[in-house]
Amino acid sequence: MCGIVGYVGRQSPGGHDSGGQGSGGPGSGGSSSGGALGVVLEGLRRLEYRGYDSAGVALQLPDGLVTVKRSGKLGQLEDALDAEPPPAASTGIGHTRWATHGGPTDQNAHPHLGGTGRVAVIHNGIIENFASLKRELQAEGVVFTSETDTEAAAHLLAAAYRRTGDLAEAMRIVARRLEGAFTLLAVHAEVPDTVVAARRNSPLVIGLGEGENFLGSDVAAFIGHTREAIELGQDQVVVITPDSVQITGFDGTPATGTRFHVDWDAQPQAVADTLLGRTDPAGHLVLDELRIPEEQLRAVDKVVIVSCGTSFYSGMVAKVAIERWCRLPVEVEYSHEFRYRDPVVNERTLVVSISQSGETMDTIMAVRHARQLGARVISVCNTHGSTIPRESDAALYTHAGPEIAVASTKAFLAQITACYLLGLYLAQLRGTLDEAGIQENLTQLQEMPDKITKVLDGLDPVRQMARWMADTRSVLFLGRHVGYPVALEGALKLKELAYIHAEGFAAGELKHGPIALIEPGQPVFVVMPSPRAGDFLHSKVVSNIQEINARGARTIVIAEDGDDDVVPYASEVVRVPQTPPLLAPLVAVVPLQVFACELATAKGLDVDQPRNLAKSVTVE
Ligand code: M6R
Repeated sequence: MCGIVGYVGRQSPGGHDSGGQGSGGPGSGGSSSGGALGVVLEGLRRLEYRGYDSAGVALQLPDGLVTVKRSGKLGQLEDALDAEPPPAASTGIGHTRWATHGGPTDQNAHPHLGGTGRVAVIHNGIIENFASLKRELQAEGVVFTSETDTEAAAHLLAAAYRRTGDLAEAMRIVARRLEGAFTLLAVHAEVPDTVVAARRNSPLVIGLGEGENFLGSDVAAFIGHTREAIELGQDQVVVITPDSVQITGFDGTPATGTRFHVDWDAQPQAVADTLLGRTDPAGHLVLDELRIPEEQLRAVDKVVIVSCGTSFYSGMVAKVAIERWCRLPVEVEYSHEFRYRDPVVNERTLVVSISQSGETMDTIMAVRHARQLGARVISVCNTHGSTIPRESDAALYTHAGPEIAVASTKAFLAQITACYLLGLYLAQLRGTLDEAGIQENLTQLQEMPDKITKVLDGLDPVRQMARWMADTRSVLFLGRHVGYPVALEGALKLKELAYIHAEGFAAGELKHGPIALIEPGQPVFVVMPSPRAGDFLHSKVVSNIQEINARGARTIVIAEDGDDDVVPYASEVVRVPQTPPLLAPLVAVVPLQVFACELATAKGLDVDQPRNLAKSVTVE
């Protein structure tokens, strides 16, 4: 789960034209501020969420390659480059690493040099047969200087280029020899203005500029320069120069990728953008991208949602909505548990995978397993060109924009929104909601962005509370119905960002054990259901609050405007606007996200890059 950037073009050294994006980072005023180096570093800043154990760059100069790499975060590399600026270059590659083979040392940082140092390679993924390749190369006298699998690819590439004199052909030869998942990028001292790349089961997109071209693990790498992109297919090699992009299969057959325009904006309009363009002029719900025959969707008799982490909690919300609207049974399962329990899945099962990154290996494997069993798979995903939507029968993209911070926040809202759209679409197809019902729900969804803005505008008391609670050692979260996954997400955010022990519970489960944890002063967040949720749900959660209040807990209650039943038992009430009960997670989770973020900041922690985590978890 490393980040990869490549650039060839005419960015002028000393004054790069980044469209104002990506400037201001560490080192942006020094040597790193122009030319290929400026572009590559800017891309790495945007991809650092993919790993931050080390970073490195290779630049192509008339007399050879310059590589600079450092263990630690990108800032270490930028400091090194500012201390000793390399000469200006117009071609370069860069890498930010999440260590797999070999620890996070300078030596194991990418790029890795092959042969006599005339070729530099960066890599994302795992080369599964690297041990045998390494033995073979060592037997030929090659001396390895790192513990990485990547170095084997670099030496193979150097040797293949020596034999063929053609860098693209050399890359194809190497790609055919490798097993596993990989994206490789290479520059060669003898092949000016050229970056070559290969892709198998690991993401790579091409950015198309005027007199310049880009490569990146995702479009965030070059979004400040171009929104025109090509998604490279599996088992393809691409050669970019300032004026050309040539794609072939690993066997040399000419190929084309899939061209697309990136319509993201890095702004917190996740819900509004996810709703955009999903209705026709008459206001009917149209999900054009769901290219699964309607008769197959009508024949579905069960939905299984597979996902992990925050995306799993979106799935729990989706279950309630889809069951309510479509009268279909819905199971929600961790992707990593799904395929190990011999699930009852067949041609009439609709599997919905939810993934922000589209690269979570556990979910990729679940999707593959579901398709082997004959199920149709729809992926709800935020990342164009990623593996999960590519391997699914259809994709429903969330338009949350690039999510740079490791902990998922706006993507959660966008995922839930996309799942509501999917639920309504299925209900429309299957006739379980009439036209008026669909329209009513769509109108309510359209009102949600404003309601979320209102929540955000009123969160100063939550921020203050978080600062007072910086020394807290444990926080509990309770919710019921769609409030239960919100409670789980609140707890996950606090663990991830603030490193505080936090547990989320179904409020009804409290009396079956967890209530033993309540002692005087114990902070407990309670996500109140709407008083209009029906089935006495609201009054049951009021009872739960009374139970913990009686035992001295400090109760912080997220409740709708006008819900005064909770006031006598709450230590603090955080208000959210009234919403239809099913849509409440879109407002209720926001104070919990802000609380975790603020508390982490008060503790002086790095909220964008929490310890031990990576944005895309591409190992099982
Ligand atoms: O990219 P995905 O949505 O598939 O990622 C799934 C989880 O790894 C992810 O949600 C993780 O739990 C986040 N760190 C949550 O903030």
